[in-house]
Amino acid sequence: MAKKVTKIGVLTSGGDSPGMNAAIRAVVRTGIYHGLEVYGIMRGYQGLIEDDIFKMESRSVANIIQRGGTILKTARCQDFFDYKGRKRSFENLKRREIDGLIIIGGDGSFRGAKDFSSEFDIPCIGIAGTIDKDIHGTDFTIGFDTAVNTAVEAIDKIRDTMDSHDRIFIIEVMGRDAGYIALHSGIATGAENILIPERRSNIEDIIISLQEKERRKKLVNLIVVAEGDEFGGAVEVQRRLCEKLPKAEIRVCILGHIQRGGSPSCIDRLIASRMGYHAIECLIEGRYNVFVGILNNKMHYIPLENAVKNKGKISEEWMKIVKILAS
Ligand code: F6P
Repeated sequence: MAKKVTKIGVLTSGGDSPGMNAAIRAVVRTGIYHGLEVYGIMRGYQGLIEDDIFKMESRSVANIIQRGGTILKTARCQDFFDYKGRKRSFENLKRREIDGLIIIGGDGSFRGAKDFSSEFDIPCIGIAGTIDKDIHGTDFTIGFDTAVNTAVEAIDKIRDTMDSHDRIFIIEVMGRDAGYIALHSGIATGAENILIPERRSNIEDIIISLQEKERRKKLVNLIVVAEGDEFGGAVEVQRRLCEKLPKAEIRVCILGHIQRGGSPSCIDRLIASRMGYHAIECLIEGRYNVFVGILNNKMHYIPLENAVKNKGKISEEWMKIVKILAS
């Protein structure tokens, strides 16, 4: 039988994402509801190594559900990839008698949690929080919906100027090596082309289609590029297009970190609240070393090691929709 957890730590790790605060709130309040002591760990694994840990109460998470970023701050902590860093973290937790850990982050953060939980006797539960939505086993990750809506809002604005000037615009969105933000925001804004790392793109085909559109006086063209696409982003795509289309007015806009900020959408608040609640239920029930995901609107508990290995796939149907609707 799994040993009973009584004191838990919660941290946010990797890139911040809108909705992380809502998840922290759910973890703290559900934990307290079950009689657990809950400790906040600052700056992700960095704070774990440096013992930057404080006790949280129900009021510590008041008025944060609507706030972007993370009140616990975050970091991409290289030291935790090292055994020495993880050992120090364990010693800090042991001294404080913290016997369970909740990690809100992406696949890199889960990789750290997987190593930590297999080396030391501390159960870890992950909550999928990243704007990239690149974790296999969940339809949602906290922050993705807000990021996509931010991108859509920005692209809609760019379309106004693009349309007024009859220009081609190449807009680069985030996503690291995943194309979900590009795909969703591109379809939602009526992009003519969407370039994502999961699919090979043919620049020649894009040029031919732009020339064909020019012939029928369709001069406004929106190309959404994922930052991790095979060409290395929007600037390189622009260079290649300009080579073959010297007369075209082609502009680039890189949306950047604006996609990570802002107040979380309703969907992100909801999934963060559900995932936070269920992460605590996992600890209470002794379902350890999993991350909490949502598939077909049902909670799923996926072993941390599977989140590390798998990457999501883009459905063929989506690509067909892009092609047909872009004519
Ligand atoms: O993982 C989230 C993300 O925003 C990616 O989309 C992007 O590639 C990366 O983080 C940027 O990281 P940083 O803020 O450390 O530059």
